[in-house]
Amino acid sequence: MSLLDWSKSLDIGVEAMNSEHKVLLEIMNRLYDRNAAKAERQELKAILKELGDYTVKHFADEEAYLLSIQFPELEKHKLIHKSLLEKFGAHAADFSKSGVLENSFFEFLKMWLSAHIQGIDMKYGDYAKTHK
Ligand SMILES: [Fe+2]
Ligand SMILES: [Fe+2]
Repeated sequence: MSLLDWSKSLDIGVEAMNSEHKVLLEIMNRLYDRNAAKAERQELKAILKELGDYTVKHFADEEAYLLSIQFPELEKHKLIHKSLLEKFGAHAADFSKSGVLENSFFEFLKMWLSAHIQGIDMKYGDYAKTHK
């Protein structure tokens, strides 16, 4: 079972960013699956690191893209990314201590994917469509 499957509602209309979002989804789903399968702590730790690293890369790519299209709400978007990374870091630190991935962590990932992509990323997708 996956945490969240790709659907049309996540399509923001910018192919390069869609494909990065799909990679994020794939890593999150893998983490969710391996956790449900009671994988070793070391394996979960490695996937968590992969997710963190890819998230940093995605946010940097997305911010560079937003700069390239002169998206007016870039600064606001950067702050949202920063706060997501802080929350992610706090969950990762909890895992380092306890070795357990809490349900609240997966709730956070799901919220991030659906609410951030549909609510926040969609805004630049719409902007890109009208400012070509
Ligand atoms: Fe974003
Ligand atoms: Fe994004």
